[in-house]
Amino acid sequence: GQVTKPETYRPQYHFSPKAHWMNDPNGMVYWKGTYHLFFQYYPDGTTWGPMHWGHATSKDMVRWQEQPIALYPDSLGWIFSGSAVVDVNNTSGFGKDGQTPMVAIFTHHNSKMEKQKSDKFQYQSLAYSLDEGKTWTKYAGNPVLPNPGIVDFRDPKVRWNEQAKKWIMTLATKDRITFYSSPNLKNWTKESEFGHDLGAHGGVWECPDLFPLDYNGKKAWVLLVSINPGGPNGGSATQYFVGDFNGKTFTPYSKATKWMDYGTDNYAGVTFANTGNRTILMGWMSNWQYANVVPTDPWRSANTVPRTLGLREVNKELFLTSVPVKELDILKGETVPMKNLTVKGEYDLTPKTKNETGLFKLDLTTQNATDFSIVLANEQGNELVIGYDKAANTYYIDRSRSGKVDFEKGFGKRHTAPRLAVDGKISLSLLIDVASVELFADNGLPVMTDIFFPDKPMSKLSIKSTTGISISSLTYTKMASAVQGG
Ligand code: FRU
Repeated sequence: GQVTKPETYRPQYHFSPKAHWMNDPNGMVYWKGTYHLFFQYYPDGTTWGPMHWGHATSKDMVRWQEQPIALYPDSLGWIFSGSAVVDVNNTSGFGKDGQTPMVAIFTHHNSKMEKQKSDKFQYQSLAYSLDEGKTWTKYAGNPVLPNPGIVDFRDPKVRWNEQAKKWIMTLATKDRITFYSSPNLKNWTKESEFGHDLGAHGGVWECPDLFPLDYNGKKAWVLLVSINPGGPNGGSATQYFVGDFNGKTFTPYSKATKWMDYGTDNYAGVTFANTGNRTILMGWMSNWQYANVVPTDPWRSANTVPRTLGLREVNKELFLTSVPVKELDILKGETVPMKNLTVKGEYDLTPKTKNETGLFKLDLTTQNATDFSIVLANEQGNELVIGYDKAANTYYIDRSRSGKVDFEKGFGKRHTAPRLAVDGKISLSLLIDVASVELFADNGLPVMTDIFFPDKPMSKLSIKSTTGISISSLTYTKMASAVQGG
């Protein structure tokens, strides 16, 4: 018989492909009761290669089913990142006999032209589906947006704009964002540029997204821009701007550089199309600094959990908040609630929580804001430390002794995030899967996402505080696996 290797680091409630390489989420869209996730995929290896769009579907964004590959490379190039929309009014004309087309807008990356040193090897193209995403036809008129001579010209994110009564494409163009408009997804007109003199520029701009969010009955626009490298804790990361978009130009309210996630493992995240008044993001849970060498096999990379985005004001600045979608509650199992604990020194939670499976959510609220940490450990001496540092007023995740860290020299580090909230209490929510930690501090302001690779599962859980922390409530909740047959 066939011997199957144990998949040591297989995430149990984060999407990962059964096998081979994955990077950015693409074309995320909700349509007729199904969430679609497409993704940058290389089906012939576990490192980055000629890109395809892989495909997975879900009824709840939690339990995903991998589907056949949606888009294959063709004579115009590899299929790089992009988005998908439901063309309800059939503006594209792809729908026949009253059908509503799903339209994918993606970058063709022409590696032959790149080798010939042309500047114009990335351009935007279309594909459409008339069977709810099962099969896709590339548009015969591709590309729909040729390259004007900009080496990095990619990752179109398209959404319908009510004010302009047109489709707006948000495109990463090297060191800035360029907005284009179109009545029909086929003919594009340049509207404006944003950002060459604002924000972080430690690397090339990629995978943008532009969407409105309600804030106190008003509407503000959020512009996400992933950059590689130049993130706050090294490697690739996603910054954002909050401002106005008038259908043509984006005007930020503030010049501050803000980060959607301060961990090192949430990249190229964008939002689902067609989810009504919910704004839901998923990111690629890795980092270009080491994505190609992380110790997983036979697949590489997973996504973050889907997150609901919102806005919150602190000291007259608007910040983006991210919290796990409520759908994740379907995985909640047994809970161990605790109240009014004072921890000075170390408090070992293991006898209470058991934590045999290592899949859990931890919610904690304190009465004072002082130094403390949550330590996840095993008998081998691996430790993952998540905490708050009062003097620096930062949250942190320290994975420097979390197990396998030597595959890349910058991996084994301590990452920090500013504490943005100003009240005296701290509230934390942690999601731990097999090889990832997601920290949502103060209701999603800020967020940190980190991957890690322990030598053995980490079932020991404790709280430490040298100064003494008063915890008003602490709830440990077992999470079930969402992997089919897992
Ligand atoms: C971001 C990115 C995109 C590009 C894709 C290629 O991670 O570099 O800009 O379209 O990956 O796989």
